[in-house]
Amino acid sequence: MIKIALPKGRLGEKVYALFESAGYECPSIRENNRKLIFENPEKQVCYFWVKPSDVPVYVERGAADVGVAGKDILLEHGPDVYELLDLGLGRCRMAVAAPEGFRDSGERTLKVATKFANIARRFYAEQGRDIDIIPLNGSIELAPLLGLSDVIVDIVETGTTLRENRLEVVETILPISARLIANQASWRFKADLLVPLVRKLEGTVKAND
Ligand code: PRP
Repeated sequence: MIKIALPKGRLGEKVYALFESAGYECPSIRENNRKLIFENPEKQVCYFWVKPSDVPVYVERGAADVGVAGKDILLEHGPDVYELLDLGLGRCRMAVAAPEGFRDSGERTLKVATKFANIARRFYAEQGRDIDIIPLNGSIELAPLLGLSDVIVDIVETGTTLRENRLEVVETILPISARLIANQASWRFKADLLVPLVRKLEGTVKAND
């Protein structure tokens, strides 16, 4: 069986649909219940729903052979896994945003609120800019509005959250999309199952493009 960690939520539904159209269906997953694990022995797959930021943990430690995680999570946590394929789903960007009209004078330490402390640190280190990270877990956009930070480093998809809170993108850090990752040992020892899976997914991604 191939053990597959799917990110719970909207992205996960799209990811499952992709696996399904690649020929790895598991009909029971469509039944709307609170179950977390679903198997289809005929297709040799076992899917489970995982909190998106936990997917690399399951894959790195081999509880899952493969999984799907956003490039943002991979860059932030740097798990020891193979990144096999860009699935082209969940496209968005990591960006610095601030209240409309904000200009960084560069004179004092910049206060940066974010869920992505490592990405933010690396980005500003490359620019030689002194920053103070304010770690938050959600609703990051609130921070500059309440004077908790000067800017935020966060994910921007449609830009609606920024617009509705009178914030704007100051700088794009990098584009983000969902990636197929594999456990290193599984990739060697289950190659007979995993190589065909990657090939079929690759074909489906190209056909969808
Ligand atoms: C993410 C992100 C932004 C929003 C961007 O938040 O942190 O807040 O989506 O999307 P948009 O550009 O389409 O408006 P999420 O919904 O994951 O919730 P969070 O507040 O917990 O980060």
